Amino acid sequence: MKTTRELLLSRIRDVPDYPKPGVVFKDITPLLADPEAFTALTEALAELCVRYGATKIVGLEARGFILAAPVAVRAGLGFVPVRKAGKLPGATLSQAYALEYGTAEIEVHAEDLAAGDRVMVIDDVLATGGTAEASLELIRRAGAEVAGVAVLMELAFLSGRDRLKTALRGAPLEALITI
Ligand code: PRP
Ligand code: MG
Repeated sequence: MKTTRELLLSRIRDVPDYPKPGVVFKDITPLLADPEAFTALTEALAELCVRYGATKIVGLEARGFILAAPVAVRAGLGFVPVRKAGKLPGATLSQAYALEYGTAEIEVHAEDLAAGDRVMVIDDVLATGGTAEASLELIRRAGAEVAGVAVLMELAFLSGRDRLKTALRGAPLEALITI
């Protein structure tokens, strides 16, 4: 019988030279299309949320939303979207961060997070760690506490774990698969 890790890994497709030559894209759409694998992923991430005492789930737009929403339902917790800049209608907190070329910006509704919340951040991939790092800044600026970061896949060769170390302040970073 396959372990959860083996099942998940078997449903992630390598797409060579996407989005640019030399890059191997990790496509999770076969995993999402397989109810057994998607359920196993949801349950594994929800178990981490419970283990680390999360009271709210933050999902990172866009692929993080797909994973975080069912995890929030499974764990019985509220879901808070962190969106790319300009998408949320209410009063927001914004955080800019550096990309390989240029900058990006993410936002959260200020009223969605507050003191007393313990927030688990869910995303599909940890690459350079820039997106997750910016989300931790948003959570803390909203007055909430970081319960941890949980991702399906960590691309270890991009050293996102090192970049996140300071921002985590001892909170856990969990990856179901490390590549
Ligand atoms: C991808 C991925 C992670 C992020 C990881 O999102 O889904 O959110 O990059 O990269 P980092 O660790 O270097 O920040 P992206 O915004 O590219 O696409 P998406 O909108 O499809 O999630
Ligand atoms: Mg993303």
